[in-house]
Amino acid sequence: AAYTPEQAQLVKSTWQLLKKDAGKNGLTLFLKVFEIAPSAAELFSFLKDSPIPLEQNPQLKAHALTVFKLVGDAAAQLGEKGGLDALQATLVDLGVSHYSYGVVNEHFDVVKFCLLQTIQEGLPELWSPELKAAWAQAYDELTGVIKEVMKGQK
Ligand code: HEM
Repeated sequence: AAYTPEQAQLVKSTWQLLKKDAGKNGLTLFLKVFEIAPSAAELFSFLKDSPIPLEQNPQLKAHALTVFKLVGDAAAQLGEKGGLDALQATLVDLGVSHYSYGVVNEHFDVVKFCLLQTIQEGLPELWSPELKAAWAQAYDELTGVIKEVMKGQK
């Protein structure tokens, strides 16, 4: 399905709101991920054997923020001509690095579910099926490229 300018606008405007609390939203996202998939924490070098509680780990917060930011930025770009072209090189790098970390497609599925839940909880009054679909599609297109690269690494 095509990504419409309306969908891009919807994500762009809500991303502006979520950004104000990007640190907290990012952290909420990954705390949910580790609730569903605790073993995923073992993939992160800075979480393994770390005495710092998850919710206080600055590196986890940084990763969480990156994920949020890239999906938000991707959505904005998807509404423009050229789509994800500007992000292509970044996505290839992410595919290569994430394959080497041992990240698999299912991890991306869990992160998607948790991302949408985090947005719903962060913006309950703006939540709608359209908003959900717009974020979901931006995430799918972005991670679709990463997954393709990961597949090629095998
Ligand atoms: C590292 C972004 C999804 C696990 C990183 C880095 C970035 C990044 C920028 C640091 C640079 C690099 O190594 O390439 C993203 C984005 C994602 C995403 C944008 C989705 C849109 C995931 C998922 C997992 C994951 C689903 C697994 C649950 C990791 C791990 C590292 C990492 C284990 C290395 C951490 C360490 O230093 O030990 N990610 N990531 N990422 N990411 Fe992701």
